[in-house]
Amino acid sequence: MQTEILSGPGRLQGEFVPPGDKSVSHRAVMFGALADGVSSFTHFLEAGDCLSTVRAFQALGVPVRLEPGTGRLEVAGVGLHGLKAPEHGLDMGNAGTTTRLLMGILAGQPFEAALFGDESLSARPMRRVTDPLKQMGAQIKGRDKGNFLPLSIRGGKLKGIAFDNPLSSAQVKSAVLLAGLYADGTTVVREPVPSRDHTERFLLAAKAPFDREGDTLRIRKAERLCPVSGEIPGDFSSASFFIAGAAMTEGSELTVRGVCLNPTRTGFLDVLKRMGAKIEVTPKGEVPEPIGDIRVLGSRLRGTRVRPEEIPSLIDELPVLMVLMSLSQGESLVSGAGELRVKETDRIQAMVQNLKAVGASIEELPDGCMVRGIDRLNGGTVQSYADHRTAMSLAVASLACRGEIRIENTDCVAISFPGFFADFLRLRQSV
Ligand code: S3P
Repeated sequence: MQTEILSGPGRLQGEFVPPGDKSVSHRAVMFGALADGVSSFTHFLEAGDCLSTVRAFQALGVPVRLEPGTGRLEVAGVGLHGLKAPEHGLDMGNAGTTTRLLMGILAGQPFEAALFGDESLSARPMRRVTDPLKQMGAQIKGRDKGNFLPLSIRGGKLKGIAFDNPLSSAQVKSAVLLAGLYADGTTVVREPVPSRDHTERFLLAAKAPFDREGDTLRIRKAERLCPVSGEIPGDFSSASFFIAGAAMTEGSELTVRGVCLNPTRTGFLDVLKRMGAKIEVTPKGEVPEPIGDIRVLGSRLRGTRVRPEEIPSLIDELPVLMVLMSLSQGESLVSGAGELRVKETDRIQAMVQNLKAVGASIEELPDGCMVRGIDRLNGGTVQSYADHRTAMSLAVASLACRGEIRIENTDCVAISFPGFFADFLRLRQSV
C-alpha cells in the first residue's frame, strides 16, 4: 500500500488539464455499446472505474478498443439487442456507476448475468436501483433482498413505470432510463432536485425517444440508438481538488483548461464564490457538454452554509469542501448530505476524523458537519479509507499544514485520477 508524505505549507501555480470526465466516460462506453454503428471518443478516462465498464462490456460481447495511454476509445456498437450472455460473473471493481447503470441495461436483456465487486462496493446499497427495476419486470437476486452485491439479474419483458425517486441520484435515474429503452409503454422519472444530466444528454444525442419537460423525464421503448462521437470534457470533480487548493492559499494562481461546466455539476463554484473565492470562468463551447477554462487566484475564504438542495450539484466535491471550510474565517455548516455516508466510504466520518487528526475544528452531524475555521492545520497521519476522493482532499489539506501530512493508502486515487499526485507535485510550490 502506497503512502504519500506531503509537507506544508504550499500553494498552486500554473496550468492544468484535468483527465476525462468519469461520468461521461462510463456513459460513452455504454451508449457506444448499445448503438447501431461505431462511436469514437478522445480524452476517455483511463482509470480504474471506467476500465471496469470497458471490461464488463467486452465480457458482454462488445468490441471496445482502447489505445492505452492515448485516451482514444472506439466502441463497435452491437445495437440494443446485440449483447451476449457473459460466460463468467462481471467484476464491477469499485465502481458504483458501472454497477447501477449496467443493471438498468441488463434488466432489458433476455439472459442472466451475475455482478460482483470489491469490499467497498459490496457494502453499498443497491435496492435504490433493484426495487424500481424489479417493478419494471426484472428478476434480481442477491443478499438482503437484492440490496448488496453479489447480485444476479435476469432481464426480460419490461413495462414502463412512473418512478418518483425519493433520492436525487444520477445513478438511479440513469438505471431506470436505460431500462426504459427496453420497456413497453412510457417510463417517467422524477427526482426532488435535478442530479447530473449526462445520461439525458447522451439519450438526446443518440436520438432515443426521450424528452424532458421541467423536472419530468420520459422515455419510450427504443428501436435503435445512433452512435455518438466526440471529445470527453475534463472532469470537474477531479479539477475541484486543484481549484480548492488554489482558492484557499494566498499567492496561488491556477488555470484549469477544458473542464466540463455542466451546471448540474458545478454547484461547488457557486459555494466557492459565496466564500469569497476569486474565480473567473471562461466558457469555450458546448460539445454537447458545456466546456471551458477556470482561473483561480488564492485568497482567505469565509465560512458558509451549504443547503440540502445544493447537495446534488456538488456531491463529489463535499470532501474537499470540508477541507476549505476548516480553513475559512468563521463557521460553516453542511446539511442534507446523508448520501455521503454510502459512497466509496462513509465520507462524513472519514473526513471529520482525518481533519480532526490534523488539527481542524470540525464536528460530525448525521447528515453533514459543523466547522469552525482556523488559519493553519498542524499535520499528522491520515487515512484514505481506500476512498479516492478522501485521499485527494487530504492532499489539498497539506497546502495549509504547518508540518507534514502522511496520507496512508493512496493507491485508490487510480480509481478516478491515476496522475493526481504527479500533477499535484508539479503545480505545488512551498511557501
Ligand atoms: C454519478 C452519480 C453520483 C456521483 C458519482 C457518479 C454518475 O452518484 O456521486 O460519483 O456518474 O451518475 P449518485 O447517483 O449515487 O448520487
